[in-house]
Amino acid sequence: MDAEKPLVVNIWGGFTRPSWAILVLLFTVMVVLCLQISTKAVFPIWVEMDSDKSSFPVDPRSCSGFFRQGPPRKFVVSISEFGGVGDGRTSNTEAFRRAIRYMNRFGDKGGSQLNVPKGRWVSGSFNLTSNFTLFLEEGAVILGSQNPKEWPIIEPLPSYGRGRERLGGRHISLIHGDALTNVVITGENGTIDGQGKMWWDLWWNRSLEHTRGHLLELKNSHNILISNLTFLNSPFWTIHPVYCRFGFPNISSLCSFLLYLRIVETLGAAFAFSNVVIKGMTILAPLNSPNTDGIDPDSSTNVCIEDCYIESGDDLVAVKSGWDQYGITMARPSSNIIVRKVSGTTPTCSGVGIGSEMSGGISNVVVESLHVRDSAAGVRVKTDIGRGGYITNITITNITMERVKIPVRFSRGSNDHPDDGWDRRALPVVKGIYISNIVSVDTGRAPVLEGIEEVPFEGICMKNVSLSGLGPSATWRCEFISGVATSVFPLPCPQLETNGSSSWCAHL
Ligand SMILES: *[C@@H]1O[C@H](CO)[C@@H](O)[C@H](O)[C@H]1NC(C)=O
Ligand SMILES: *[C@@H]1O[C@H](CO)[C@@H](O)[C@H](O)[C@H]1NC(C)=O
Ligand SMILES: *[C@@H]1O[C@H](CO)[C@@H](O)[C@H](O)[C@H]1NC(C)=O
Ligand SMILES: *[C@@H]1O[C@H](CO)[C@@H](O)[C@H](O)[C@H]1NC(C)=O
Ligand SMILES: *[C@@H]1O[C@H](CO)[C@@H](O)[C@H](O)[C@H]1NC(C)=O
Ligand SMILES: *[C@@H]1O[C@H](CO)[C@@H](O)[C@H](O)[C@H]1NC(C)=O
Ligand SMILES: *[C@@H]1O[C@H](CO)[C@@H](O)[C@H](O)[C@H]1NC(C)=O
Ligand SMILES: *[C@@H]1O[C@H](CO)[C@@H](O)[C@H](O)[C@H]1NC(C)=O
Ligand SMILES: *[C@@H]1O[C@H](CO)[C@@H](O)[C@H](O)[C@H]1NC(C)=O
Ligand SMILES: *[C@@H]1O[C@H](CO)[C@@H](O)[C@H](O)[C@H]1NC(C)=O
Repeated sequence: MDAEKPLVVNIWGGFTRPSWAILVLLFTVMVVLCLQISTKAVFPIWVEMDSDKSSFPVDPRSCSGFFRQGPPRKFVVSISEFGGVGDGRTSNTEAFRRAIRYMNRFGDKGGSQLNVPKGRWVSGSFNLTSNFTLFLEEGAVILGSQNPKEWPIIEPLPSYGRGRERLGGRHISLIHGDALTNVVITGENGTIDGQGKMWWDLWWNRSLEHTRGHLLELKNSHNILISNLTFLNSPFWTIHPVYCRFGFPNISSLCSFLLYLRIVETLGAAFAFSNVVIKGMTILAPLNSPNTDGIDPDSSTNVCIEDCYIESGDDLVAVKSGWDQYGITMARPSSNIIVRKVSGTTPTCSGVGIGSEMSGGISNVVVESLHVRDSAAGVRVKTDIGRGGYITNITITNITMERVKIPVRFSRGSNDHPDDGWDRRALPVVKGIYISNIVSVDTGRAPVLEGIEEVPFEGICMKNVSLSGLGPSATWRCEFISGVATSVFPLPCPQLETNGSSSWCAHL
C-alpha cells in the first residue's frame, strides 16, 4: 500500500516523464488481482471444475457431459411420511411443501431424495431445493390442482416485462425452482399431469386473468437432469429452463468482463458441465391445446435435450431469449443448445422453433436426428421488427419428416409485442443457418423463407435436402434472404446460389 503513492505521483504528477512501462505494469497487476478476487468470490465452482476435469470428460456428441452426477443422496424419504395421500382427491400441496422445507436442511449434508410411490397425488405448486432428487416410482402420478389459487401469482420474467399472455404477474409453475444446483427429476416413467384443460378453457373462453403456469420451470439453476418421466397436459409451455446460464451476473464491471473473457477462452466446452439435461422424456398434450410447447430453453446456455417423444398443440422444442425491449435490456442469450433424437407431432406448429422471442440473442444451436410427422413445420425460425437480438450459427442436420406442411420456414412479422414501448429500429440479425441431410416425404409445400427487408437473413446454407411429394408446380418462396444450396431438391429459389462453395458453408 505504501509503495503505491510514489507510483501514482510518478504517473499522474510527473507528466514530463510518462512511464508507459509502469502504466502497463499497474494495469496488469490490477487485472490479475481482479481475476483472482472474482474467481474466488463469485465463481468458487470454477476452481472446483478445473481439478475435476479429468474425471469428467465432456463428449460433445452426447448429453452425458452436460450433467455431473454426484453420489447417491444421503436422505431418502417418501411423500407418505409427510402426510401425503395418493388417492387422487386429497390435496398434497402442504405435504410436498413440508417435505421440501424439511429436505432443504440436507442440501449441504449429502443431499436428499423425495420418493413418490404408486398412486395419484393431487398437488398445487411447490418449489424444489438444491442437491435434491424428486423420484416418481412406477405408477406414480402427480396431478396438478384444479384450484387456481394453488398456482399463486409471481413476478413476470424481466426479459418479458410482463406475463407472456396477460399483463402483470403470472401463475407459478406446478413444479418450480429458483437458483438451484444439482437437481434431478426422474423416476420409473412416473407421470406429472398438469390437468391443463381448466386453463385451456379459460384461455379459449377469454376469461384468463393472468398468464398460465408451466408444468416445470427452473430459473437461474445449474446442473439439472430431467429424465425418464412422462409429462402430460401442461397448462402452458411444459418444461421451461430460464436464465439457466453459468452466471456472469452482469458484465458491467471490468472485473466480470475480464473474467468472462478468461473463462470463455480457457474453458470452452469443458464449461458445459453446469447445465440442463432433458432426456428420455415423453411429453404429451392434446394436439389442439393452446401453447403447450414441449421444451422451451429460454435465455439459457448448455441445454441438452435428447431421446424425447413430444406431441402437443405447439412447438415440440422452442428456443427463446426474451421479448422485444425487455429482452434487449436484459441481454441474456440462449446458446450452446443441443436438440438430438427428438420425435413427435404438432399439427399447427413446428418440430423445432427458434424464436420468435429472441431479443437476448440465440446462437450455437445444434438440432440433429429429429423426426417430425404430421406437423405444420419441421424447422422454423421466427422473428420480427422490434425484437433486436440475433439468431446465428444454427446447425440443423439429419432430419426426417413425414406429411409436414412446410418443412423449412423462416418468418417475420408475427406482430406480437409486449406493449407500445417496442423499438421499430430494433432489427434482429439472422446469419448462419446450416441445414443438411433432410429427407421429407409427402411434403405439403416447398420451403417458405421470408427475411426482413431492412436486414436480410444471410448465410443460409442448404446441402443434401430432398423434399418429395411436391407437385411439379411447387416453388420456393424466398424474400430478403441469401446463401447457397448444394444437392437440394426440388431446385431452390435463386436467392440460394446453387454452385456456392463459400467458406462459411464449408464445415458441413
Ligand atoms: C450441495 O452439495 C455440495 C457438495 O456436497 C455442497 O458443496 C453445496 O454447498 C451444496 N449446496 C447447497 C445449496 O446446499
Ligand atoms: C416458491 O418460489 C417462489 C419464487 O421463486 C416464491 O415466490 C414462492 O413463494 C415459493 N413458494 C413456496 C411455497 O415456498
Ligand atoms: C412412459 O409412459 C408413456 C405413457 O404411458 C409411454 O408412452 C412411454 O412409452 C413410456 N416410456 C417408456 C420408456 O416406457
Ligand atoms: C370459462 O372456463 C372456465 C373454466 O372451465 C369456467 O369456469 C368458466 O365458467 C368459463 N367461462 C365462460 C364465460 O364460459
Ligand atoms: C432411464 O432409465 C433407464 C432404464 O431404467 C436407465 O438405464 C437410465 O440410466 C435412465 N436414464 C436417466 C438419464 O435417468
Ligand atoms: C446487475 O447487478 C446489479 C448490482 O450488482 C443488480 O442490482 C442487478 O439486478 C443485476 N442485473 C441483472 C440482470 O442481474
Ligand atoms: C457454432 O456452433 C457449434 C455448435 O454449438 C460450435 O461448435 C461452433 O464452435 C460454433 N461456431 C462458431 C463460429 O461460434
Ligand atoms: C438420423 O436420425 C435418425 C432418427 O431420426 C437416427 O436413427 C439415425 O441414427 C441418425 N443418423 C445419424 C447419422 O446420426
Ligand atoms: C444425405 O442425407 C441422407 C439423409 O440424412 C443421408 O442418408 C445421406 O448419407 C446424405 N448424403 C450425403 C452425401 O451426405
Ligand atoms: C453459378 O452458376 C451459374 C449458372 O448455374 C453461373 O452463371 C454463375 O457464374 C456461377 N457463379 C459462380 C460464382 O460460379
